[in-house]
Amino acid sequence: MRPIIETHQLVKKFGRNKPAVNGVSLRIYPGQVIGLIGPNSSGKSTLQRMLSTVLRPTDGAIKYNGRHVRNGIQKDRLRRNIGYVPQGDCLYGDLTIEENLLLFSEPYGIKKKVRKARIENLLVRLELTERRNYLVRNLSGGMAKRASIAAALVHNPKIIFMDEVTMGLDPTSRLRIWELVKELKRDHVTVIMTTHYLNEVQSLCDNVFILSKGILVEDDTPEALLEKYHTDDLDDVIQKVIKSEL
Ligand SMILES: Nc1ncnc2c1ncn2[C@@H]1O[C@H](COP(=O)(O)OP(=O)(O)OP(=O)(O)O)[C@@H](O)[C@H]1O
Ligand SMILES: [Mg+2]
Repeated sequence: MRPIIETHQLVKKFGRNKPAVNGVSLRIYPGQVIGLIGPNSSGKSTLQRMLSTVLRPTDGAIKYNGRHVRNGIQKDRLRRNIGYVPQGDCLYGDLTIEENLLLFSEPYGIKKKVRKARIENLLVRLELTERRNYLVRNLSGGMAKRASIAAALVHNPKIIFMDEVTMGLDPTSRLRIWELVKELKRDHVTVIMTTHYLNEVQSLCDNVFILSKGILVEDDTPEALLEKYHTDDLDDVIQKVIKSEL
């Protein structure tokens, strides 16, 4: 099977600092759920931002479905297939959830009727129906996060990037998001999620990428990693990987 995303020696440098991402080569296959993990500052968000076309790499190459994306038209076409939930806030605080979703779906040229049906479906799936008319700035953190996920899915992307979307959520909200990830997988959407909750990775992910100081130090299934590091807990794997990198 052809990778949906493939990178070769991807590098991102900010100014004169050490590279935030330093020569990452990886392959992601269609329909996979990927867990991107590693300590703070290891380059997870930077890597996700490059893969989702938000950030231009300093060096190296990314191919989508075997192709380099060279010009603006190709990039626009690719972006129709990509959803991105950033680590920070991304919605307009002075608009309601529903207004945000309408706004986010507008640039994709989808008929208003279809957009409205999709928004309805996402509001239900993310349990936001009752709060649809709330201003985003008045939402709790968990609600706001769920609204950002809805906004990233409103154009039915084939690939979705989620950067720490379950951070700080209560257990029920986290489980709701787990269910959503499973539904996306059933619909053959490729999911690349960053998280510090490793039980999440163990339960949801087909493959794990571990970053340390911008370098991809492990790329394997959760099961294979547990076996390799003789443990039944991914937290142990991270500790051992990071220690061996020091
Ligand atoms: N726009 C930027 N300008 C300058 N430095 C940046 C920028 N974005 C990220 N960095 C730096 O790149 C490095 C990696 O940051 P990144 O946000 O990718 O880490 P992370 O693994 O996502 O961390 P966390 O777990 O805290 O979210 C850090 O040293 C960070 O300060
Ligand atoms: Mg981050």
